[in-house]
Amino acid sequence: MEKQKTITLITGADKGIGFETAKALAKADHTILVGARNAAKGIKAADAIMALGGEAEFIQLDVTKQDQIDAAAAQIKAEYGYLSILINNAGVALDHHQSASTMPVAVMRQDFDVNFFGLVAVTQAMIPLLKAADSARIINLASNMGSLGLASDPNSRFYKVNSLGYQASKAAVNFATISFAKELAPDGITVNSVNPGWTATGFGGRDESQPAIPGMQTPAEGATQVINLALTDSPATGTFTETEGTLPW
Ligand SMILES: NC(=O)c1ccc[n+]([C@@H]2O[C@H](COP(=O)([O-])OP(=O)(O)OC[C@H]3O[C@@H](n4cnc5c(N)ncnc54)[C@H](OP(=O)(O)O)[C@@H]3O)[C@@H](O)[C@H]2O)c1
Repeated sequence: MEKQKTITLITGADKGIGFETAKALAKADHTILVGARNAAKGIKAADAIMALGGEAEFIQLDVTKQDQIDAAAAQIKAEYGYLSILINNAGVALDHHQSASTMPVAVMRQDFDVNFFGLVAVTQAMIPLLKAADSARIINLASNMGSLGLASDPNSRFYKVNSLGYQASKAAVNFATISFAKELAPDGITVNSVNPGWTATGFGGRDESQPAIPGMQTPAEGATQVINLALTDSPATGTFTETEGTLPW
């Protein structure tokens, strides 16, 4: 039987780690669906991938907008009939290390709207398409900052980190990974969380025109473990990893 073409949807693929992942997977012959909330940026990213010889298409997708999520699923169904890989990459960090006692709840809600509820809503909408593929996987961009194990370990450098909205939203992403991994295991769909590591993107409002702080990875380095999980032949399911290995939940 002929191998099915790999169709890969990446949310927030117009820049940063998502864009680097998109370029690398296009090179590995995936058809990339460039999810972006900003059409001009999404089209530019898809054009850049095609200019490199890859197959790519922009998909309008603000992960906080259910109508756009539903329209994206309908578009993928009409054009391809299935989805091979969903990479839930879109994310924000809006709380800027303010202490938990004074952090506005409204800001924490915004972190959760994109990082957790957006991820869950996109996943729910794409599950029928993933089930229609010969083989499918979901990769969730989590963070070492969302590890309860590291945050509660006095010997960890994350012990003193204080960003309740972002951290709790990424801990919730890990819970979504565990829940979906268990539910989708009988369908052969793997679901895993990845920590990309500290990466010099515009994330959290960082000024990208400034040189990277020592210790920061390039965006291409930040995409490494996501790419590994997308390309490995038989991934495990329900894991939380980075390039150096497994992380505590
Ligand atoms: N950079 C790091 O050090 C680091 C560390 C750990 C985890 N991560 C995780 O890695 C992922 C990618 O981050 P990055 O560093 O590549 O950041 P980035 O360059 O800021 O990219 C974030 C992407 O998410 C998109 N996005 C934000 N809100 C969205 C929404 N409502 N709907 C759809 N897309 C939305 C952004 O779109 P716009 O272009 O329109 O803003 C952008 O494409 C995030 O989930 C982040 O939490 C990053």
